[in-house]
Amino acid sequence: MGALPPKTAEAMERTSGLYERLKSVIPEVEWATMAEDVDAIQRLKKERNAVILAHNYMRPEIFHAVADVQGDSLALAREAAKIEADVIVMAGVHFMAETAKLLNPARTVLIPDQQAGCSLAESIRPEDVRALRMQYPYAPVVTYVNTSAAVKAESDICCTSGNAKKIVESLGSKEIVMIPDEYLAQNIAAETNVKIIPWRGRCEVHERFTPQDIALFREQNPGVVIVAHPECAPKVIELCDFAGSTAEMIAWIEKEKPKQAVLLTECSMSDNVSVQNPGTTFIRPCQLCPHMKRITLANIRSALETMQHEVTVPESTASRARRAVERMIAVK
Ligand code: 13P
Ligand code: SF4
Repeated sequence: MGALPPKTAEAMERTSGLYERLKSVIPEVEWATMAEDVDAIQRLKKERNAVILAHNYMRPEIFHAVADVQGDSLALAREAAKIEADVIVMAGVHFMAETAKLLNPARTVLIPDQQAGCSLAESIRPEDVRALRMQYPYAPVVTYVNTSAAVKAESDICCTSGNAKKIVESLGSKEIVMIPDEYLAQNIAAETNVKIIPWRGRCEVHERFTPQDIALFREQNPGVVIVAHPECAPKVIELCDFAGSTAEMIAWIEKEKPKQAVLLTECSMSDNVSVQNPGTTFIRPCQLCPHMKRITLANIRSALETMQHEVTVPESTASRARRAVERMIAVK
């Protein structure tokens, strides 16, 4: 690389240990554009007594170089509840920040971009849940965490993709309403005797994968294993080698150590997982989540500099939403 401005060269020197981990997925010329933000974020975390929670879909420079805790929605919720630092920065989407605030109301929770939403959370409103209750008065309502706090507040219990079956079966009911992800509900229904009444929400990222994609991956890469997130359509899940939450997908790859794998989920997962699994070659069918990708090093730095954007939940909603999330966390 040519001569760098002195500030960049100093930041690269200070962050060289972090870059070591990322060499296989980020070229050095690109790291040169990131090092100052990474360096500043490391300093600001100490000054603000802040921790960064990062979802598995964060870009590798966030996931591996600035995050303190990484995981799926369930792990981030569990960890958020335990944090003692003053500030939690959620490198994820809005519902994840709200869940952190519900479980740890004394902390200041920041989201670097307030527009980081989720098509599932957008698909259902509190009044829809109240209407479902009128229609199915005996069926408890199980709500995926990918929803607003206001929707959680109308629910009996929450679930994530990592515990959905366990939660559904924990209720001892023959019939339940499961909102808002239609595909997750259908995929869980295929694994349990509980009758599941779904809603019509979809993840705009996972609904794009098709059985034709799988046929093509297998044809072009003989022996490849295909691992999918349960937000994919049932006809896709049926053709996969394994399906599970983002954390379960990672654990499966770490255990099975396949030579070649396709992760049917958001793009950054393959980058992040490949750093720790150099023996596996990932075929990368890239489907970006535009919401997750709103989170950048620049806006994490800005959140810590300006203490924006704070996520709050009105107490009248929070107390009811918290009950549904805590009830989920308590299911072992
Ligand atoms: P996980 O809980 O599996 O990480 O999923 C969150 C999500 O948004 C998937 O699209
Ligand atoms: Fe929501 Fe899908 Fe993005 Fe996950 S990947 S945050 S479910 S839109």
